[in-house]
Amino acid sequence: MTGTADRQHLIGLLLGAEEDWPTAFETLAARLGVIRLPDGSTHEVRTERMTIEPFNLRDKARQDLVVDRLAHWYYHPREWLKKASLMDDVYLLNSPFTFQSMEKHSAYCALIRLGMKVPDTVLVPYKHPVDNSRWAYTSAKYNRSFDLKEIDESMGYPLFMKPFDGGGWRGVSRVKDPEDLMRSYDESGEMLMHLQESIDFDVFARALTIGPETMVMKFQPDEPMHDRYAVSHGFLSADVGQEAVTISQTVNAFFRWEFNSCEMLVKDDQVYPIDYANACPDVAVTSLHYYFPWAMKALLRWSLFCVVTDRVARTQVDSAPWFEIGDDDSLDYGAKLGAYQRLADEHFETDRYWEFVDAALPHLDEMVLDWVASDSFRSLLTSTIRSTYPPHEWDRFEGHFGGLIDLWVRDETNRLG
Ligand SMILES: Nc1ncnc2c1ncn2[C@@H]1O[C@H](COP(=O)(O)OP(=O)(O)O)[C@@H](O)[C@H]1O
Ligand SMILES: [Mg+2]
Repeated sequence: MTGTADRQHLIGLLLGAEEDWPTAFETLAARLGVIRLPDGSTHEVRTERMTIEPFNLRDKARQDLVVDRLAHWYYHPREWLKKASLMDDVYLLNSPFTFQSMEKHSAYCALIRLGMKVPDTVLVPYKHPVDNSRWAYTSAKYNRSFDLKEIDESMGYPLFMKPFDGGGWRGVSRVKDPEDLMRSYDESGEMLMHLQESIDFDVFARALTIGPETMVMKFQPDEPMHDRYAVSHGFLSADVGQEAVTISQTVNAFFRWEFNSCEMLVKDDQVYPIDYANACPDVAVTSLHYYFPWAMKALLRWSLFCVVTDRVARTQVDSAPWFEIGDDDSLDYGAKLGAYQRLADEHFETDRYWEFVDAALPHLDEMVLDWVASDSFRSLLTSTIRSTYPPHEWDRFEGHFGGLIDLWVRDETNRLG
């Protein structure tokens, strides 16, 4: 790198099919210029899209931080990430270590022990034989026969059948009666399934968390993608909103996830977390629209904080301090939430983060507002619409997303005064 600042930082982007947010991120990072810290030091960041090629395990990684969107299904780059983390101290959003070993099921277990209201959940054995020569003997000897319908009786209908390590609605079915249950189980084949009590929710809250920042959004799962996130500011009471933030940040701090979404069902002001292990949360401009500028800012702020302050990545889970609180019967649920929030703030260095943002990035809000209001952003939106939807829908979506972005620009202009 050939910058003028004291220190140069390289952020790698490990990408799949996405073009929209990477372009936004690259554009904003390039516009940042030299960052000056109160101690007088100067910093510059550069971004680079990563390619997949043979690597020697002794090669030194050039990146200081990598935002990964690929490794949850493509294992060559996943193994590169592990090498880069273990050998070169590269900071990862996200680290594959815990995402690979701690999927949705582990997250259910941890949250239940922490006292969260995870709906009642049962793991049932595979429907189809496991592809292993030892299966027939083991199964004949040790698999106890069970009656699926007895399990459902304790939960009632409808219930949800979904993979223990699910994601992206793969294999999820809403089961309405015993026949449906048998059919869904027969179809589950080689997938390992949970049966889960269904929550007849009043509101669905989906929270996107990046480092210590969480945006809790009203989500409408039955709508098409472009209408799933509703722009709604006061849809939860202050207490429930805070609870949703604490649950999301607890999950992330516990598992060392940094860029993750968390789904919670809210009924009668009770929060039921159901899905919170998403290694590659959706941040498409065509999904987040109004919330997209916030997501880009948070991703930029957190990446910068990590590289500029030399934050050391912690990739291994340390469950002890969390379970100490979770297991303490003298604390009620509210007191536990408060204690979890403090642990999460400690983990993410939340106070130091906001001090850094104030001192090092005082012009970021204006810079992002200028860009989102510019033709350059509008052409990114247009090209995303054109690559996402068929031509006869282009005008409609131009109006839909253009209107939501204009709304953000107006709100943000007012907020910044
Ligand atoms: N216990 C539940 N009660 C009500 N709805 C549920 C429940 N579990 C899942 N769903 C519905 O099914 C969808 C997919 O389930 P989810 O657990 O989020 O799986 P995935 O990891 O595939 O996104 C949810 O967004 C929600 O609409
Ligand atoms: Mg989900």
